[in-house]
Amino acid sequence: MEKTLSLIKPDAVERNLIGKIITIFESNGLVINKMKKIHIDLKFAQKFYEMHSSRPFFNDLCNYISSGPLVAIVLEGDNAIQKNRDLMGATNPSEAKEGTIRKMFAISIDKNSVHGSDSSESAKREIELFFEQD
Ligand code: CMP
Repeated sequence: MEKTLSLIKPDAVERNLIGKIITIFESNGLVINKMKKIHIDLKFAQKFYEMHSSRPFFNDLCNYISSGPLVAIVLEGDNAIQKNRDLMGATNPSEAKEGTIRKMFAISIDKNSVHGSDSSESAKREIELFFEQD
C-alpha cells in the first residue's frame, strides 16, 4: 500500500467542495488514512513549496495557500501517488481532462483546488510536514 499527500486548497474549501472531492477519492479506491482542516501560515507555506522558490509565481503561491483553511489528507491505496494525480488532472485546469477534479472544480492555475505529491520522496516529505506532530 502506498501513501500520498493530498491538499484540498483554500479555493475549494471556501466553495464547500470538501465532500465532493473526498467522494471522488473514495469512489476510486483511495482510503483516507489521516485528514485535518488547517490554516497554515506563510512560513509553513514557504517550507512546503520550497522547491518552487525560484519560480516567478512563488510569492503568489505561498500567499494564496496560506490565505484560508485547507484540508490535508493522507491517501492510501495501490499506486496512490499516480492514482491521485490522475484523478486531479493537469495543473492548469484549461488543460485538464474531462472528469478530473481540476476540470470540474478549479478556477485557474493558481486556484486549482487540489495538490498531490508527485513522487514517493515528495509524499514522504509532505506527509511528515503536515502530520509529524499527530
Ligand atoms: P501544485 O500542484 O500545488 O504545485 C505548485 C503550484 O503552483 C501548482 O499546483 C499551481 O497551483 C501553482 N502554479 C502557479 N503557476 C504555475 C505555473 N506556471 N506552473 C506550475 N504551477 C504553477
